[in-house]
Order: sequence, then structure tokens, then C-alpha cells
Amino acid sequence: MILKLQEGSGTLTERLYLTLKEWILHEAKPGERLPSIRTLAAENRISRTTVEAAYSQLYAEGYIESRPRSGYFVAVDLLAVNRGAKKEPEAEERPIGNGRVRYDFFPARLSPEIFPVKTWRRLNARALREDLDFGAYPDGQGEAGFREQIASYLNRIRGTRCRADQIVVCSGFIDAMGLAAELMEARDHPFAMEWPGYRLAERVMGEHGYRTLHIPVDSQGIDPQRLEATEAGSLYLTPSHQYPTGATLPVARRQALLEWARRQESWIIEDDYDSELNYTHRPIPAMQGLEGGERVLYLGTFSKSLSPAIRVAYLVLPEPLMERYRRSSHAHFARVSLPVQRTLELFMAEGHWERHLRRVRTLNRRRHDRMLAALRRELGDRIEILTQGGGWRSSCGLPTVAI
Ligand SMILES: Cc1ncc(COP(=O)(O)O)c(C=O)c1O
Repeated sequence: MILKLQEGSGTLTERLYLTLKEWILHEAKPGERLPSIRTLAAENRISRTTVEAAYSQLYAEGYIESRPRSGYFVAVDLLAVNRGAKKEPEAEERPIGNGRVRYDFFPARLSPEIFPVKTWRRLNARALREDLDFGAYPDGQGEAGFREQIASYLNRIRGTRCRADQIVVCSGFIDAMGLAAELMEARDHPFAMEWPGYRLAERVMGEHGYRTLHIPVDSQGIDPQRLEATEAGSLYLTPSHQYPTGATLPVARRQALLEWARRQESWIIEDDYDSELNYTHRPIPAMQGLEGGERVLYLGTFSKSLSPAIRVAYLVLPEPLMERYRRSSHAHFARVSLPVQRTLELFMAEGHWERHLRRVRTLNRRRHDRMLAALRRELGDRIEILTQGGGWRSSCGLPTVAI
């Protein structure tokens, strides 16, 4: 493969990386093998270190995959979307549902290419071949090995401080939130939530006998001072990526909220629903892991990056609530089926989860850039884009967008 390296002022590695990326996006076939590092270096008279560095960057961003003892290959899933980049992207523009929707911006939907179906099928088959005991009820809290994987991922990547025995595997948000509502036993005090916010939180808490207070958000998220005057016994918020404004709550506010919870002996439910999807900067660590995070219930889900169809979420409980949980009827039955838990455990243990996240970020970054270009092209100075990569702030009169 003789390359015509892209022009530009970057280093040789950067130019090689860009050249290969262009080739991947517009010419290569899904799963196509890349030349070995040695061959590409020799044919183009560049050093192996340069080729290795370019490959490693492409790998980190999810453009290529590595298969043991076989070499590097163009990422299969990525191509399904990227191939359309020069023409009209078919996968994203086809009519869906009843056919009346041409462009679907519903935030809680993933495009079907995201799900790594082949890997899932293989691991699912393996999970079923293992000795799953189909005659017994599985662990009510969730499979121990699966909880270990979640704890290790959260502590490493999200900065939480948790053990596997503090985790309860749940079947999605409503299930997890309902469990939190029961365990907090804080119905005598109002339930506070950021506003605008995730309406379903209010609904679930209402169904469990809680009265809701709305606490307004500003450009940085919820303002702790607004909470001071209330008698709230619990608080729900999405600090990493406020739903729906996209704001990220600064550390000082997080600390003030933790201090509020300590003083009032209130509980905080931190919904970290999509922080793994941040693709412009590393998300700031979860509140649960900060000094004073002992009153935080941390809620996570696999719905945003893997699939909302598998219905897997989890709750990390503070120790006192864990004790209540163990004594309650909630501890009896597993909330997610054993084969799904085991498949996901294998998926995480074998490194597919983090590889998958890299691929999803690449895919989203491309869509984000395309959206940004389209908004600029079509609407020009009639709108103001204040933050990118997931974000929004109110502005003086101009319509604003969160992308
Ligand atoms: C703010 C927020 N939290 C959590 C969830 C995850 O819900 P589930 O785990 O039930 O799919 C969503 C889904 O849209 C959401 O928007």
C-alpha cells in the first residue's frame, strides 16, 4: 500500500494518521486488513515507530481493531455509518417508526449499528454453555462476578469509591429509582430535583409517596443555595451532564451539596446516565467518590452506550441503605435475568466494554461535527451555539442549541 501522505504542517505521524483515517472513512471495506507495521513502513520509507504511533492513535479512537496474531483491521461497526459520509448517510436518514419521521433527534434512542451484535451473540452462547444453574433463583443483588466488573469499571473510570457488595443490579431507571425511594424512607420530607429535569424521576417518586420540589438550574446546573431554604430529605440530580441542559456541575457546587446532605442527613441520588459518552473532555469524577460522598446513591445504566433493550442499570448504595436493603424483601429476587448478566460480565471482563465505548465516542464525535456543520451552514448567525460536545447555556434572545 503506497500512500500519498496528506499535506500539512503536522508531524509525519499526524499526517500518516490523517491519511489512513481518510482511507478508512471513504475507501476501505468493513473489516479490511491493514498492512503490517513493517510492510507499511518499508513501502513508504518511513520508520516503524511512526507507523506504530499512527496505528495506535487510530486504535484508541476506534477506527481500527486489533486481532491477536492477525494484525490490524478496519473497525467493522464504524463503517456501517462512515461509509455514507461522502454520500447521503442512509442509516441515519431513513424514515423510522410510522414513516413520518425523517430525522430522529429523540435523545433516548441509539442507532442500531451501535450494538455489537456479533460479540454479544458469541458471549451469550458462551454464557449459556457454562454451568448456569437454570433450576435456582440467582443472587437477588445481581451476580457477584458482574458486580465486581461494574465496581472495578466505576472506580477506575468514574472515580467512585465502591465495593461490589454495595451494588444492586437493576432493570433500568424506574426499577432503580423505585428501590432508592423505598430504601431512603424519606417520605416525610420533600424530594428535591433539579429543574428542568428528568420528569420520570418525579413520577416514580410520586408513585412511592414522595412530594416533589423543583430546584431551578442555571448555566452550571443546580444551585446549592436554592436548596438551603428547603426541608428536602432527598435530592435527585444529573451532575455530569445535566438533563436536559447539558451543564456540568462544578466541583465547588458538588462539595456544597455533599455538605448540605451531611448537615441535613439527606440523601443524594446521582444519576450518571451518560457520562461515558462525553467526547470532548474527560468527565469530572462522580460525586459519590468525592470526600463526603457517603450519602450519595449512585445510579448508572447501560442504556445510553450499549442498548436500552437489555434493560440493565445499577445502583451503588451507601452502607446504611445497604443494610436496609439486605433486611428487606427487595433483596430476594434478581431483577435482571442471569444469562444477560453473565453475558455482560464476559463483555466487560474481556475488554469489549471499553473498546465499545471508544467506538461509540468516535461515532458520536462524527455525528456531532456533522450536526455542527449543518447548523452553521443552514442557520448561520440566526442561532448561537454556546457550548459543544453536549452543553447549553441560556443566551440573550438568540435561540440556543444543545448538541
Ligand atoms: C436522565 C436519565 N436517566 C436515566 C435514564 C436511563 O433509563 P434506563 O436505564 O431505564 O434505560 C435515562 C434514559 O433516557 C435518562 O434520560
